[in-house]
Amino acid sequence: MQRKKPAPLSVWRPLNLDRFLLGAPHYPEHVDEGCWRRDAERMAAAGVNTVRMGEFAWHIFEPREGRFEFDLFDRAIDVLGHAGIDTIMCTPTATPPRWLTSNYPEVLRVDVNGRQSSHGSRQHADTTNPVFRAHSRRITRAMAEHYRANPRVIGWQTDNELNTTVSESFAPSTRIEFQKYLQSTYGTIEALNFAWGGHFWATAYDDFSQVELPRPQMPSFPSPGHVQDYHRFLAAATAAFQHDQVEILQETNAEWFIFHNLGNLADIDFRGQFGQDLDFIGFDIYPMLYDEMRRTGGHAATQALHLDICRSYSGNFIVPEQASGFGSQPGFSTMTPEPGEMRRMAMTSVARGADGVMFFRWRPAHFGAEIYWMGIIDHDDVPRRRYDEASRFFHEIGAIKDQILGTTVRMDLGIAGADFDNQEAHKTYPIGLPSPLEDATLLHRHCYHSGIACGFIHPEDDLSRLKALYVPHWLMWKDQWNEAIETFVRNGGTLILSALSGTRDENNHIIRERAPGNALAALSGVKVSEFGRVVPEGGTGLFPLFRPPAMGSYAPSPLPASSAERKYLFTLGNQEFQAAHLYELLEVAPDTEVLGVWSNRFATGSPAITARQVGRGRVVYVGTYLTPQLAAKLFNVVLAKAGIAPLLPELPAGVEVSVREADDRQLMFVLNTTEIPVTVPNIPAGIDLLTGAPAAGTLDLEAYGCAVVSLNVR
Ligand code: GAL
Repeated sequence: MQRKKPAPLSVWRPLNLDRFLLGAPHYPEHVDEGCWRRDAERMAAAGVNTVRMGEFAWHIFEPREGRFEFDLFDRAIDVLGHAGIDTIMCTPTATPPRWLTSNYPEVLRVDVNGRQSSHGSRQHADTTNPVFRAHSRRITRAMAEHYRANPRVIGWQTDNELNTTVSESFAPSTRIEFQKYLQSTYGTIEALNFAWGGHFWATAYDDFSQVELPRPQMPSFPSPGHVQDYHRFLAAATAAFQHDQVEILQETNAEWFIFHNLGNLADIDFRGQFGQDLDFIGFDIYPMLYDEMRRTGGHAATQALHLDICRSYSGNFIVPEQASGFGSQPGFSTMTPEPGEMRRMAMTSVARGADGVMFFRWRPAHFGAEIYWMGIIDHDDVPRRRYDEASRFFHEIGAIKDQILGTTVRMDLGIAGADFDNQEAHKTYPIGLPSPLEDATLLHRHCYHSGIACGFIHPEDDLSRLKALYVPHWLMWKDQWNEAIETFVRNGGTLILSALSGTRDENNHIIRERAPGNALAALSGVKVSEFGRVVPEGGTGLFPLFRPPAMGSYAPSPLPASSAERKYLFTLGNQEFQAAHLYELLEVAPDTEVLGVWSNRFATGSPAITARQVGRGRVVYVGTYLTPQLAAKLFNVVLAKAGIAPLLPELPAGVEVSVREADDRQLMFVLNTTEIPVTVPNIPAGIDLLTGAPAAGTLDLEAYGCAVVSLNVR
């Protein structure tokens, strides 16, 4: 396997390996050694080239402090190696062993109510804690040294899903680390007092040592600046924790690739040091679980959303854990992929930028907190449909990997994403409004169902390949991005700004200019005269969203009828819409066209949506939040005019389409996400790489059927 030095972070970056990693997380420590050889043979027959192991085995690598034992894993790596299978090793810091938490109880995480984690599950240690960091460096160095020259160990995963179970900590040592972070960020306490607004509610400090961790509603709300810096600190601490490990691994063997497997995406700034330290990102995909947790509109659309978000941080990625079967922990369970669906979900990952897929897990555990989390092989050691599907997928992708590697996912519409500060700024002061991501999800879902090539991108990335860019309510718009977006527009792109854009500075202070700030006002031809809250259709108002403080003086209450009846309407293209969440009244420059107008109550006649021609492109301003209806209409009124069309016209319901491309090739993935066979019309001429058959005109897909059409590039 060849590894290239990773290119700078970009959504357009392919993986830096010449191997498509195909395999499974594997836990030899859960399996009788007598089964190891047959496991390896079955893996090889299925087309596995790599397994991942070791992430929860610190107690085996270091059974007593300072005594290291690698025999079990050495034997396992060796047996797999004889079958031609390589190993990704993990640093095992998600599960520090009992001797460590007994001898150094200060490493245990403390929750917001002051409760210390107890030993007995995972992610119980606090990655901000200096003592834990020292142990993390120790175990990483011991493992790195041991595997330095083992040719079968080809790369590393750091930890496991950092910050997924919990990202916050309120331990005494966290407070000290937070204070140090603030001191190095601000230099003087006066600078911090200015940033956090110390004259408000007498929250000024005399010294960094007086600063507390921001506890929500203790008893009232902390300053948004205080909250934002706590989350910036958590992200910096997470990156520093990982950096310790990366540094050791890199200096031990520069040939190893290093990645992390993401889960929850909390308190990690992937475009910062965290992502820059890695060769690529790994993203664990459990579509049914994510959909049920967040109710985002069907697991197929949810999976596509998660993959597109993941890609925006650093480009193509791997899926170290791709759902295979029924999954559960004691408190929940997920739906079961039906026959064919496991392969389809894995194909979706590839279609949206995965350059490596590993099904979770090779075998299910017989003990512990995931006994019903199924794997490729069943508990009774019999390979059944999941083995057959994994094998089919591995062989199919193995056969076409050279066409796939080196391509990136086409996007005609980009949604501004991957910006840590903007996502956090919303959380510091949400006032019941949807987050940028929640708003963007409505547009993404519309594009997903219509077959429009859409994804997420940071404004600092290369915008030239997009036709349009939607910016979902980014409060902290930074001046340093203005030149790039203006160039994008002058060259023919369409920029869509939305309500509240650019209204706060990086300290979370409201700007002193009129919204959306001088630069965006000049570009869009819009100044905001007034804004106010609107109840979305079927909405319940603010109070149910307001977490009652511990002392419980506010009880959630239903929305009073008088507020619920206050609908705000606007017209756009001869159609009337009910606004959601917020209205803005816009003052419009003479060269700016009014597309949408408020049409009832006192706002009647005020501009709501505008467009301004700038160079060869347009800047559209939307003075409200998206609804599913507005997202669809925006496509007709704005995006179609920007030259965006669905990748396939008349896409049947439940079929998803995306394109991966390089200069010399285009691969169109057409995937049936339903249990009903479907015929897809309007397929351009090419070859279905999975069957070798020519494709053109109509394509018949079985239940959960997949096609990868290599288009005849003109
Ligand atoms: C992932 C985690 C795995 C396993 C899996 C199934 O989030 O990384 O260790 O727990 O979920 O629950």
